[in-house]
Amino acid sequence: MTNAQLILDTAIAASRAGGAILRRYFEEGVTMRNKSGDGGKSYDLVSDADEESEQVIASIIREAFPDHELLGEESLQGDVDSKNLWIIDPLDGTNNFAHRIEHFAVSIGYYENGEAKAGAIYNPIHDDLYTTVHGQGAFRNGERVCVSSTDQLGQAMIGCGFYYDRGSMMQATLAAIEECFSHHIHGIRRFGTASLDLCMVGCGKLEGFFEYNLSPWDFAAGSLFVTEAGGQITDARAGKLPMSSTSVVASNSHLHSALTEITQRHHP
Ligand code: IPD
Ligand code: CA
Ligand code: CA
Repeated sequence: MTNAQLILDTAIAASRAGGAILRRYFEEGVTMRNKSGDGGKSYDLVSDADEESEQVIASIIREAFPDHELLGEESLQGDVDSKNLWIIDPLDGTNNFAHRIEHFAVSIGYYENGEAKAGAIYNPIHDDLYTTVHGQGAFRNGERVCVSSTDQLGQAMIGCGFYYDRGSMMQATLAAIEECFSHHIHGIRRFGTASLDLCMVGCGKLEGFFEYNLSPWDFAAGSLFVTEAGGQITDARAGKLPMSSTSVVASNSHLHSALTEITQRHHP
């Protein structure tokens, strides 16, 4: 990778700057709006916090790397095929943010020719920083982390996410959860911030995580965090993750085939 340290330092600086904006709005209050206007779904939210965070992140990255492309959830339209691409979720966990639950993050992943090279995920309320560089491991607040060694579904804690769809996607998720329980897993958790869910797999807190529809900015940084921590991440049919909306399954690697057998069976 070109200039790994500068890339990581830039990702960290940008995630902390975006996080500072989220923290300020979280403390002072902000109006949440429906993403698709008045007719939009009441749970698909956006606010000045998401938009300002994205702008600040973009300006920091552009200052360091003026010729790189940026793809972000709110307004950055970078091409996924570009040689140097930053993929940004300026506020992952919008619903938690809106409900005053202190579990949300900025997520920034850096890709070269379609390969994940570095990432930073930052929860500004807990001042928790997750970082990773290809080939160099995964770190939480500077301490190296790794996935759990559990190889029995019967001893696993599994995270999941529900896409905003309340139809077939939701039914599929519920069916997969039910099948997980039939293997006597320890529990299911739905924390509401996909990037942090992936960090929890990398940190060995969750043995696995799945969601039937995520966007690249939800997993761009977290997917590298998982693999650098010794885990595995694929789509729900155990295929390579594309750089587009997709199902996602992450695990400590020991439980990957057991989990993808379940998610594949219920794939909507
Ligand atoms: C959402 C969160 C959530 C996941 C949704 C995502 P947002 O991102 O990551 O955990 O279940 O599918 O869209 O909208 O809060 O940035
Ligand atoms: Ca997101
Ligand atoms: Ca978001």
